[in-house]
Amino acid sequence: MNKDVMILTGAGQIGMAIARRMGYGKTILVADKNPANAEAIAKTMNEAGYDVIAAEVDLASRKSILALIDQAQDLGDITMLVNAAGVSPSQAPVETILNVDLYGTAVLMEEVGKVIAPGGVGVTISSQSGWRMPALTAEEDALLATTPTEELLSLEILQPENIRDTLHAYQLAKRCNEKRVMAEAVKWGERGARINDIAPGIIVTPLAIDEFNGPRGDFYKNMFAKCPASRPGTADEVANVAELLMSDKGAFITGSTFLIDGGATSSYFYGPLKPEA
Ligand SMILES: NC(=O)c1ccc[n+]([C@@H]2O[C@H](COP(=O)([O-])OP(=O)(O)OC[C@H]3O[C@@H](n4cnc5c(N)ncnc54)[C@H](O)[C@@H]3O)[C@@H](O)[C@H]2O)c1
Repeated sequence: MNKDVMILTGAGQIGMAIARRMGYGKTILVADKNPANAEAIAKTMNEAGYDVIAAEVDLASRKSILALIDQAQDLGDITMLVNAAGVSPSQAPVETILNVDLYGTAVLMEEVGKVIAPGGVGVTISSQSGWRMPALTAEEDALLATTPTEELLSLEILQPENIRDTLHAYQLAKRCNEKRVMAEAVKWGERGARINDIAPGIIVTPLAIDEFNGPRGDFYKNMFAKCPASRPGTADEVANVAELLMSDKGAFITGSTFLIDGGATSSYFYGPLKPEA
């Protein structure tokens, strides 16, 4: 008998924590650009009683995303999507960040939204980084939310001359995730399904460790030292939010972004992390 299927893109620490919390009793198809990451998580979780199949996907490619969805549909009804794939500002150039974090995330939500089972739920992971960037205009927000996916990367604000550096590209990508989730929630709702976004602060994972050791390392270490929680977070704490959003307790929540950052954004606007302070 086919079981319900969870698609997990991004075989990192955050993705695994959410899959462990919500994926019991389902077939979990975990896909990553780096097959070794997917296989490692499949092994760990299979040895802990889950039913996990490792796969390869490149989030920057619609063709690759569609092949993954086909593979998932052969396993059963897709009832859950967890998108925790991404690259950080210290890991990749501007173009890759826009292709993966912005375009790929938009395509994944669009394509899974066409086949998600009634009552299905999804979460995608953006970042508190998107919250520190000043507000865009209402028109720019609407363009990020609703421009057809194949035209997204042609938007004026995403052209190389309008992007200062990889951090700016990452912030635009993560802001776009929030807006896309709002627009997608309307479409997912037509199928009786929900989609939400989690914007984490610094969560200790290989991606964050690359940031600690990268050109902005001091900035990141200062950020968690001076946030109200005075520490970085853990992937399991992100899973706490995902559990609310993906369970029946979150039945009235869709199209939303939940910030979980130990108060770093609050401190950035109104506390010791404020840039002039
Ligand atoms: N760790 C943090 O502090 C933090 C903070 C805010 C947001 N995030 C976001 O959380 C998400 C998960 O990050 P993480 O910290 O668990 O990192 P991680 O490095 O543990 O996992 C990310 C995974 O994404 C995969 N990946 C990269 N490019 C891909 C592509 N093109 N297609 C498919 N997979 C690809 C990587 O191979 C890696 O396995 C990312 O979107 C990241 O931006 C992380």
